[in-house]
Order: sequence, then C-alpha cells, then structure tokens
Amino acid sequence: GVTRHYQFDINMKNVTRLCQTKSIVTVNGQFPGPPIFAREGDRVVVKVVNHVQNNITIHWHGIRQLMSGWSDGPAYVTQCPIQTGQSYTYNFTITGQRGTLFWHAHISWLRATLYGPIIILPKPNVPYPFVKPYKEVPMIFGEWFKADTEAIINQALQTGGGPNVSDAYTINGLPGPLYNCSAKDTFKLKVKPGKTYLLRLINAALNDELFFSIANHTLTVVDADAVYVKPFETDTILITPGQTTNVLLKAKPYYPKASFVMAARPYVTGQGTFDNSTTTGILEYISPSSIKSTSKLPLFGATLPPLNDTSAATNFTLKFRSLANKQYPANVPKNVDKRFFFTVGLGTNPCPKNHTCQGPNGSMFSASVNNVSFALPTTALLQAHFTGQSNRVYSPYFPYFPIHPFDYTGNNTINNTNVISNTTNLVVLPFGTRVELIMQDTSILGAESHPLHLHGYNFFVLGQGFGNYDPINDPAKFNLVDPVERNTVGVPSGGWVAIRFRADNPGVWFMHCHLEIHTSWGLKMAWLVLDGKLPNQKLPPPPSDLPKC
Ligand code: C2O
Repeated sequence: GVTRHYQFDINMKNVTRLCQTKSIVTVNGQFPGPPIFAREGDRVVVKVVNHVQNNITIHWHGIRQLMSGWSDGPAYVTQCPIQTGQSYTYNFTITGQRGTLFWHAHISWLRATLYGPIIILPKPNVPYPFVKPYKEVPMIFGEWFKADTEAIINQALQTGGGPNVSDAYTINGLPGPLYNCSAKDTFKLKVKPGKTYLLRLINAALNDELFFSIANHTLTVVDADAVYVKPFETDTILITPGQTTNVLLKAKPYYPKASFVMAARPYVTGQGTFDNSTTTGILEYISPSSIKSTSKLPLFGATLPPLNDTSAATNFTLKFRSLANKQYPANVPKNVDKRFFFTVGLGTNPCPKNHTCQGPNGSMFSASVNNVSFALPTTALLQAHFTGQSNRVYSPYFPYFPIHPFDYTGNNTINNTNVISNTTNLVVLPFGTRVELIMQDTSILGAESHPLHLHGYNFFVLGQGFGNYDPINDPAKFNLVDPVERNTVGVPSGGWVAIRFRADNPGVWFMHCHLEIHTSWGLKMAWLVLDGKLPNQKLPPPPSDLPKC
C-alpha cells in the first residue's frame, strides 16, 4: 500500500440552511467534510489542526485500528481532546476492509456538523465481487439543527429532560424541497440510462435510524460496514446511525429526462418526541443528446414504510449474510471463552436535591448497560492504562451480567427503571479472548432499537429475536456459517441480538449506542484488551503529539 496524507483544519464557517445562517464547526470549511480516499492496505495519515474554541477529536468510525489504538479518537477513551491551537496526527493502516466508512467528531455533539466519508477501494488489480460501477456516489444522511448542538445537549443533561429534536434530515448536508426555503438545497444525482452506480450510503444522523428508497428503482445491497455481503435486492434500505451500506443502482435503459424522488425518514420505535419529517433528493436521467424531450419532466414519488414499521425493518435486517467464500471467508469464532449478557436501555435517576428535573415524573433521564451508567473520566482511559495510572481512573469490574435481572419484555414500568451507578468500569480481556455477547433491550420507557457500535473490531451477528433471550433454545439457531460482519448492529426494539468477536486488538475500545442522546445519558462502556505475548501483539507507545488533558 501507499501512504495518503491529509490535513484537517478545524474552522468555523457560516452555513445557511432553512433560511437561517449559523456558524458551524467544519473541516477545511466544508460541510459535509472532505472524503478520505484509500485502498485496502494503505496507510492514512491525517493531521488535525484545531483553530476553533471547542475541544476536538476525530474518530475513524469502523476502521479496525489494528495496533493503532491511539488513533481511534473517542475523547477521554483513547485520547484527551485536541485543544484550541493544538494539533494531533492520526496514523493508521487499513487492513482487510473494503467499502465505505465515515469519520466524525467524537466529543460532545460536535459530530452534528463534523463528518465525512471514508472510501476504501480494493487493493490494486483486485476487482469488486460485483459488476463494476460506472460511477460511485457517497450519500451521507445527517441531521440539521438550527440551534447549537452543544447547547442542546448541555441543557438536556442539566435539566434531565429530553433534548430538542433536529429541524431537518439531510442528504449530503442538503434538506431538500419538503423543508422551508430548501428547494435550492437539494441533492441531485444525474444518471445515464443503462449505467450502474454504486451508492455509498452513510447514516451520520445523531439520533435517528432511517428508511431510504428511490422511486421506481430496486437497489442491490453489496457491502455493509466495509465488508462485502451476499448481494440482495430491496426497495427500501434501513440504516442506523453508525452503519454504512453500499448499494448498486441500475439506471433504467431509457427514461427521457424523467426524475425520481429519493427519500429518507426515520424508523422510530420509541414513544418520545422525534422529527417525523422527510429529506428528499432527486434522481435525474440525462437523456442522450440525440433525443429531444420538450415535454415537462415527469417526477415520480417515493414510498417509504410507516415510521413504526418494525416488520419492514426486521425483514430487511435479516437479509444480510457475509460472502463466506474462499476469497472472503467469515472467520466466525466457533468456540467461546467468555460470555456476556448486557441489558441496554433507558431509565431514570432521581432528581438531585434542590433541583427541578424535566425527565419523566420529575426525574432525570439516564441510560445504562447492565444497570451501569458509564461516566467518562477527565483523562484518557488508554493513557491511564498504558502509564499504569489505571486505579485512579477506572475499575476493571464491569458486570458481565445485569445487576438486576428481570423479565425484560414484561410490564416493568415500576421496577428497575433507575440505573445504579455512574461509574467508569471496564471489562478486561486477555489478548485473543473469543467473546460472545448477548444484548437485550430492556423495554423500559418504551421499547426502542439501539444501534450498538463497537470500536476497534468487527463482530459477527449470529442471531436476533424479539422478547427475552432464551439461553437454552436460541443458541441452537445461531448462524455460524455466513453471519454478517459489521461494527454497528441494531438491538431490536423489545428484543435481543447475539454477536461474537475475537479480542485480537490491544487497547481500550469504546462500545456505545450510536444514538447520540443515549450515549450522552450513559449507554456506553469500554473493553480493555490486554497485550498478547508476541511482539506484534503489543500496543506500541503513544505518538509524541498525543494531546494532554
Ligand atoms: Cu461513530 Cu464511538 O462512534
């Protein structure tokens, strides 16, 4: 591979959306931010220079970061933030991944405007395992907030209530014509009849899973989270925050200047407030110059499943299979060294004395994994581990099983709604541990899907289901042959999902719900994977420019 150098200058920039101009944090003045292009096997070096008042970190979402944990980016997990006027150079090699990932800020809610694609092509002379596209088009879904997003989350955390929802969904930063004053801010994709296009779909939205479809067109899914999958056709895509999906779009042979709506809007299972609006773009056919079309352009409307259509979401999710062939094997751990059962969900904590709280019944919203609401330290976990300062920063006793087990899908409105601690606990894993993890949605405060994202690893999704996980009968149905391999999986609303991974990458690896509000409330934890015995199984020392807290 080659080395690809980038410089990310973090700057403020005035951007106008929905008739309002707002100063936002950007990379190089661009919104959405610039793409990173690389081939599998390349080294990527990105110097991030912070020219703004906010503390910054950048996370390379989905990049395995093999032996390069110092470049992962979550604030207070692998690094202290880059302060105003400072810089930090991220440096990592892309190993065994091809497809689409994305980068985003990983501190507070700054990823609302700080995000961009990571495009990973196969090694030179290695073809795609599908038809070569005529063109490739990144499409990033996002959310636009009129207000400052850090103010929104700070206010939510102080009052204990729910945060303001966004004012628009966007495709490549553009809300589209269904929103006020946004007709000119519409994403347009011009296609030639008969050609095949690779759409690199990324959900960078803060808080919503999205359905996506294109009027009158079928899409072929070929890659998820930078791993090829067995191709399948679908009319609608479901994509959770943190997921990336490559799809082939075959333009019809002849459509003189017809246009088709592309639309995305949320899949929402919870009962809270959310924005049920729709972002749209236009797929426009370029007619050959020999054909004169004088009539008005026909425009075909897209249809999307209803907001709460869990069966559409489930049917789509269950179609994913890894290729699992000679060239692209699925190395599923057949045996397990350590088993974990994590409950994930929302709850409430009592309001502190002399305070008024705006959560349910005057409480404060919280979220937890195994009843533990994770608190980030004021220094970086990986640094604390590496320098032997760990006992002052975290404990190694994250519970393997819920502290308060109960019937997760029964009527639990009274019991178990509050989390028991606000602490920094890690799971410590010896190098090479084969982990099986069941994640169970607790259904408290309304069943809700949680897109759980694991840093530093891909995992295999062996199975999922609704209701309580059954440890006797469900494992018999696990797919150990061709399960999909990804970095973000939706824990189904009122159900469970089973994953496995091999802990072969030393470092501290964050795992959290990629709905940003749930992360803020504490639906997060971290794994400490220890060094192995061999020299190439040890995390190298930190780079000299690693920021200090
Ligand atoms: Cu895309 Cu920890 O995040």
